[in-house]
Amino acid sequence: MIENINWGELPFGYMKTNYNVRCYYKNGKWGALEISSSEYINIHMAATSLHYGQEAFEGMKAFKGKDGKVRLFRWEENAKRMRKSAVGIRMAEVPNELFIDAVKKVIELNSEFVPPYGSGASLYLRPLLIGSGPQVGVKPANEYLFMIFVSPVGPYFKEGFKPVDMMITRDFDRAAPLGTGSIKVGGNYAASLNTLHEAHEKGFASAIFLDAKEKKYIDECGPANFFGIKNNTYITPKSDSILPSITNMSLLTIAEDIGLKTERRQVEAKELETFEEAGACGTAAVISPINSIIDASIGKTYTYSKDGKPGPISTKLYETLQGIQTGDIEDKFGWVELI
Ligand code: PLP
Ligand code: COI
Repeated sequence: MIENINWGELPFGYMKTNYNVRCYYKNGKWGALEISSSEYINIHMAATSLHYGQEAFEGMKAFKGKDGKVRLFRWEENAKRMRKSAVGIRMAEVPNELFIDAVKKVIELNSEFVPPYGSGASLYLRPLLIGSGPQVGVKPANEYLFMIFVSPVGPYFKEGFKPVDMMITRDFDRAAPLGTGSIKVGGNYAASLNTLHEAHEKGFASAIFLDAKEKKYIDECGPANFFGIKNNTYITPKSDSILPSITNMSLLTIAEDIGLKTERRQVEAKELETFEEAGACGTAAVISPINSIIDASIGKTYTYSKDGKPGPISTKLYETLQGIQTGDIEDKFGWVELI
């Protein structure tokens, strides 16, 4: 089966692999890590994840280097964010030790699915934490399931590192100002589905959400954060309703390291007119350069790429990030762990 995989053409999607790993929280404690070859989970019909959205997930990637070794990028940040998500919707927290044991085990068990160096693909890990115990009243579950499955993936936006078109939505909000936008819980994604569907139907790669309260500031680009570049400065929105992206946090560090200034602050939609380059960033998206952004309700189109090519700063950021992730560039920030 692995022989038939065309690593260079992989979409961002699900592929069956050998195993997944699971751990159950019962009677106030986590049990032993279990290995499963089933793609299904057996769950109580009154589980809180099914009724009240008590679930959180993570997204992370493992890369094969030129030396054949597998590298994991900033896993502690994913573990930390999953704990923040757990606290945010009153779930049991997954300790670091359990998180990394599960990550290492699931990679080891599926090692032949880690795409080869140079293919542009990587092994995507999807940690999932769900309320598995029954409740009918609106209350947190007493039991939880933490699991990780993996899938080899290509770029999230099928264009890869090529500029894409995005649209601004003013019809829907993804997250409320004091809601759950800053944690990685399923409800945020459910709330974005109509908008993303509309964007895809109209031929856009994604939709950009504005802040829910004033509809004045950029929040984020569907499943990725937004950044703009101007005057040698990397600018990215600060908002309480966006997911604090680990990729974005890394790009802020890389940007400073390569001599750019950085600003994390509110970004008014009208500032889009002034950027020289723009992009979306995230684990799945890596960096997706933006060609154009259409804000149809105010009749504006902003265009960034020249001759359909990514800008020079986005390109440098992309190459540096990928270089660190695959081991081609020295990991001077200590972000990579060899598995
Ligand atoms: N924003 C949203 C809503 C996301 O789902 C993701 C993906 O995890 C990101 C941003 C990017 O975050 P990260 O770089 O940590 O993957
Ligand atoms: C990621 O970038 O890892 C994500 O989780 C984004 C998306 C697939 C939900």
